Amino acid sequence: MALYYSVFLFAVQSVFMDYDRSTILAKYLVTGGAGFIGSHLVEAILERGDFVRLLDNFSTGKRETIELFGSNVEIIEGDIRSYQIVRQAVKGIDYVLHQGALPSVPRSLKDPITTNEVNVSGTLNILEAARDAFVSRVVFASSSSVYGSSPKLPKQEDMLPQPISPYAVSKLAGERYCQVFTKTYGLETVALRYFNVFGPRQDPQSTYAAFIPKFVRGIMDGSPLVIDGDGRQSRDFTYIKNVVKANLLATKVEGIAGRVFNVACGVSLSVNDVVNHICEVTGQKGNLSYGEVRVGDVSHSMADVHLAEQLMGYRPEISAREGLNEVVNWFRQRTESS
Ligand SMILES: NC(=O)c1ccc[n+]([C@@H]2O[C@H](COP(=O)([O-])OP(=O)(O)OC[C@H]3O[C@@H](n4cnc5c(N)ncnc54)[C@H](O)[C@@H]3O)[C@@H](O)[C@H]2O)c1
Repeated sequence: MALYYSVFLFAVQSVFMDYDRSTILAKYLVTGGAGFIGSHLVEAILERGDFVRLLDNFSTGKRETIELFGSNVEIIEGDIRSYQIVRQAVKGIDYVLHQGALPSVPRSLKDPITTNEVNVSGTLNILEAARDAFVSRVVFASSSSVYGSSPKLPKQEDMLPQPISPYAVSKLAGERYCQVFTKTYGLETVALRYFNVFGPRQDPQSTYAAFIPKFVRGIMDGSPLVIDGDGRQSRDFTYIKNVVKANLLATKVEGIAGRVFNVACGVSLSVNDVVNHICEVTGQKGNLSYGEVRVGDVSHSMADVHLAEQLMGYRPEISAREGLNEVVNWFRQRTESS
């Protein structure tokens, strides 16, 4: 009798635990959750008290990053190129924040086939599995690189994309797949075109390191650094907290399915401006020289962020200079604690 009673109690508890989880917590899947942007999204979702699962193959993502989350996150180590793994990852999920990708222009120039497999076929796997699992919305990490060679500034979402790298083509294909899944199958999707995101945890040492972490670390260490071209090329450098905010809005705001939005500050700084600011904040002169213009790079880029402001209520809250100060502080703290 006691045994029957315990089995009955266990069954009742399980039902209520499931009930609690599905009614109280929103369930997020962050692909690429061990990477730079993905890990900040995981952190923000945990702070809200929601459930997070992350899917990553750790190709550029770091195990030490996810150790920060302890046991609060469900981790699936796997590749978005495997449909079976993606199917397992989207099970029971409400919102997918799809960050997993090979995120580098030079890497895509060297190996366009792998970039296409991960960024295009991987995205298609996510969308198909999300449709099958009745996910409420997929938010896709696209890129300002889709604007490509067009000299017109600021970049507005309705401009004709003119990609000049396999990476940019892969992101544009991802956006188009998102729109097809919304129009044709009714799966809600939103694509966010990030403009040069930077912030803590970005790797300064990888082969395809982004400019800001590489230069902050290098200027602090006095290492020799080569600026591409004459350094007058400009970008809309976007601090990570603005990107996190945009993603959280993009999951919940009604009536924006199938849309593409710029996510940036709407202000551009030249590479020389950024280098000078880092030198000023760190009190270092930097061991700097000028080199060749990088193939596949655009000269200038700046976003118009009015559409995201009007339809999602997005406003950049942290300027590029404020963000640079935070990154310098982050590197300082890491140096002091190591
Ligand atoms: N950082 C930027 O400035 C920027 C700008 C525009 C767009 N984006 C996009 O934002 C997203 C995140 O970029 P990031 O800067 O955080 O890069 P990142 O390299 O730090 O993160 C990418 C993550 O995806 C994972 N990943 C790669 N291939 C995978 C695969 N086959 N299966 C599963 N996981 C895989 C990596 O291990 C990594 O954790 C990418 O989609 C990128 O294209 C980034």
